[in-house]
Amino acid sequence: MRALITGITGQDGSYLADFLLEKDYEVFGMVRRASTESFERIEHIRDKITFVQADLLDQLSIINVIEESKPDEIYNLAAQSFVPTSWNQPVLTGEFDAIGVTKILEGIRLLNRKIRFYQASSSEMFGKVQQTPQNESTSFYPRSPYGVAKVYAHWITINYRESYDIHANSGILFNHESPRRGLEFVTRKITDGVARIKLGLAKELALGNLDARRDWGYAGDYVRAMWLMLQQDEPGDFVIATGKTHSVKDFVETAFGHVDLDYHDYVTTDPRFIRPAEVDFLQGNPLLAKEKLGWEPEVNFDGLVRMMVDADIERLKNK
Ligand code: NAP
Ligand code: GDD
Repeated sequence: MRALITGITGQDGSYLADFLLEKDYEVFGMVRRASTESFERIEHIRDKITFVQADLLDQLSIINVIEESKPDEIYNLAAQSFVPTSWNQPVLTGEFDAIGVTKILEGIRLLNRKIRFYQASSSEMFGKVQQTPQNESTSFYPRSPYGVAKVYAHWITINYRESYDIHANSGILFNHESPRRGLEFVTRKITDGVARIKLGLAKELALGNLDARRDWGYAGDYVRAMWLMLQQDEPGDFVIATGKTHSVKDFVETAFGHVDLDYHDYVTTDPRFIRPAEVDFLQGNPLLAKEKLGWEPEVNFDGLVRMMVDADIERLKNK
């Protein structure tokens, strides 16, 4: 089997590449040109991946990489994925995260409609939640340009499924984290901050809204669900979540507690990290994924926090 992964240099792309290589896939990774490489997350498997260069902004480049890699499956993980940036760059976010998806689907439509497609949809689409817990039929109410772009991408995926009979799937993934998570996302910012404070490299950690609640899982578990969706006879939409919700404060308390520190002594709040509109609460219902895909998460909240704090301490100790 041949798979093309867009966003292979990102958190999810790297775990998915690990997973597919284990399954003996031939893996093609779409990367965009940069003056310096950002391959840290895939350094360990670099020689096993065939890199193809394209950008979500460029239709012809996408057609060329599909033609070159001749994939059985395409996983579209590439995106401008940081919610705060989407207020500063709303047009670019729309071009990448909404129109970019149409460009890949057009490539499939033109070249080979048998290619199975995975779209990285997001619980951000639920935004100001209309129902709790959120499932595949919960209405969307996005609260950021990022969320709006992802709603477009979700619906264009369904449209290509229904219009052209393409095996196009939308995974509505709730927040998932790991030691490979980008440093600006709150979980990694916290675990990196805890490690620095524990090692005497920093004295405080400035955060925004500590009351926001998320359904946090482990990225390694979530890429398995992506693959399972593409192995089904029928394409579909699936919520992937743990079903549990925790506040940012819970995450902070658990992370500091893991290294025997009291977060009250170190955490400050800074209005710079407060968003123009907030998603206050997310909690997914992964029942459909359990029933149809046989998918369940293996790492729980405490295990995830410990894994991330330990990895950051190890990384900074060896610097
Ligand atoms: P990430 O770490 O930010 O990775 C994003 C990837 O997209 C990077 O490889 C980046 O490449 C690539 N990219 C960005 N713009 C591009 C462009 N114009 N052309 C080609 N590649 C481009 O994100 P992630 O956490 O792995 O998330 C993967 C996907 O799942 C994203 O679509 C995200 O929106 C979605 N999602 C994530 C979560 C989550 O909790 N992690 C939850 C729901 C949905 P560079 O290395 O060149 O920057
Ligand atoms: N980033 C960040 N930095 N967030 C903070 C901070 C801070 O200093 N302090 C509090 N938060 C709060 C945010 O206000 C938000 O409510 C929550 O922590 C989570 O923020 P992020 O970790 O940045 O993730 P996100 O939920 O906005 O978006 C992530 O999950 C989505 C799925 O729901 C991203 O991975 C998206 O790409 C993904 O679609």
